[in-house]
Amino acid sequence: MKKPWGGRFTKPTDKAVEAFTASIHYDSRLLEYDIRGSIAHAKMLGKCKIIPPEDAEKIVVGLEQVLSDLQSGKAKFDPSLEDVHMNVETLLAGQIGEVAGKLHTARSRNDQVATDVRLYLKDEIDAAIELIKTLQRTLVQKAKENLDVVMPGYTHMQHAQPVLLSHHLMAYFWMLQRDSERLQDCRKRVDVLPLGSGALAGTPFPIDREFVAKELGFSAISKNSMDAVADRDFIAEFLAACSIIMAHLSRFSEDIILWNSHEFRFIELDDSVTTGSSIMPQKKNPDVAELVRGKTGRVYGDLISLLTTIKGLPMTYNRDLQEDKEPLFDAADTVKSSLGVFSIMLKSAKFNVKRIAEDMHGDFSTATDMADILVMQGYPFRTAHEMTGDLVREFNEDGLGLELLPLKEFQEMVRKVDKKTIQRITDPKASANAKNVPGGTAREQVEKQIEEALQILNSKT
Ligand code: ARG
Repeated sequence: MKKPWGGRFTKPTDKAVEAFTASIHYDSRLLEYDIRGSIAHAKMLGKCKIIPPEDAEKIVVGLEQVLSDLQSGKAKFDPSLEDVHMNVETLLAGQIGEVAGKLHTARSRNDQVATDVRLYLKDEIDAAIELIKTLQRTLVQKAKENLDVVMPGYTHMQHAQPVLLSHHLMAYFWMLQRDSERLQDCRKRVDVLPLGSGALAGTPFPIDREFVAKELGFSAISKNSMDAVADRDFIAEFLAACSIIMAHLSRFSEDIILWNSHEFRFIELDDSVTTGSSIMPQKKNPDVAELVRGKTGRVYGDLISLLTTIKGLPMTYNRDLQEDKEPLFDAADTVKSSLGVFSIMLKSAKFNVKRIAEDMHGDFSTATDMADILVMQGYPFRTAHEMTGDLVREFNEDGLGLELLPLKEFQEMVRKVDKKTIQRITDPKASANAKNVPGGTAREQVEKQIEEALQILNSKT
């Protein structure tokens, strides 16, 4: 196939080079955005009388036909035409003849591809934000259902202090909320039109960039043509936001994998989201969580790949920049599918409330409450810490848990403290409910948290 840029060449491209430089096998997914961008550009060329309006009209109709022919399979992409842009232009020429050649007036593939990717990315960001919202709704639902469940809160993977299961779940809500805000913030910088920058210097034609921006739904136009064709910050930002989302999902996965283990048995994952072993009949594996954890690595890889691609590039466009797309597509696909399956897995999960309660027996997770009570009696905290530590050691040696502490005797020691407060030592629920500060794990506070979360989810932005 004759290349649209073939004029100054006397030899055909080497087949290996053709295959090496082609990107159509992945950038074909930009097709709809490429057509939309071209339609807006053609309309502008006609409106500004840079090409005759009737030619612009022919181009627009032709582009719509190219899109439907490619979508229906009537037309096929040709790898010898490098990329989606050249394929569309060539098919357009097949459709409407020589007038198709007017479309590329006042435009370069450099500003064209940057425009396509930005259009694509705005949609991807919106989709990812929706998927985050679905997962957040699932978390709030689970938090609401489990307000009565007290579980061990961990530091260093050791039982630390009792917390509400809802509090633990809501911690992930807020991580995801920041993820969503990061994406929204990144979107502002994606939402800028590069088209009109030409190859790098702008164009001598009297184009109307604002018109194109409006047609394509961009909020602003780029301010510097060199920056516009060289910049891939907006992709790096998106990949960084994706990496953090995956970090959060990976941590959550790790919790779920542990909770699902025989040692914990805190959670029962539904049959529909687990898989069996080909040899061990008893197995029911948490593959979704494991794969989300596993896929985190590749999204980090996508970020590092792009950052490395751009780090040594001189101004402005260099073909290296074609390497921006595969990591971008991979990360967007991976984050979206991970968020999607995570919601499904969490929604059908059942918490083993009885087992969680049993797990707190003899775990000394209320030892801080005991130290606090001694402080209320008047002891300095360090002394109270020491006294409690001594007692924990003794109880531990005798194989006892703090829930067996004879409260009556203890009360003799701490006359200034009322009976109900002392119960925090033997009752994890009382211990959790005592943490009644904003952001604390007391039921009243967790209910407030859920309220606030629902307000966020139900607000329009
Ligand atoms: N396929 C190319 C890319 O993705 C399009 C831009 C080509 N520009 C050029 N000057 N060769 O970057």
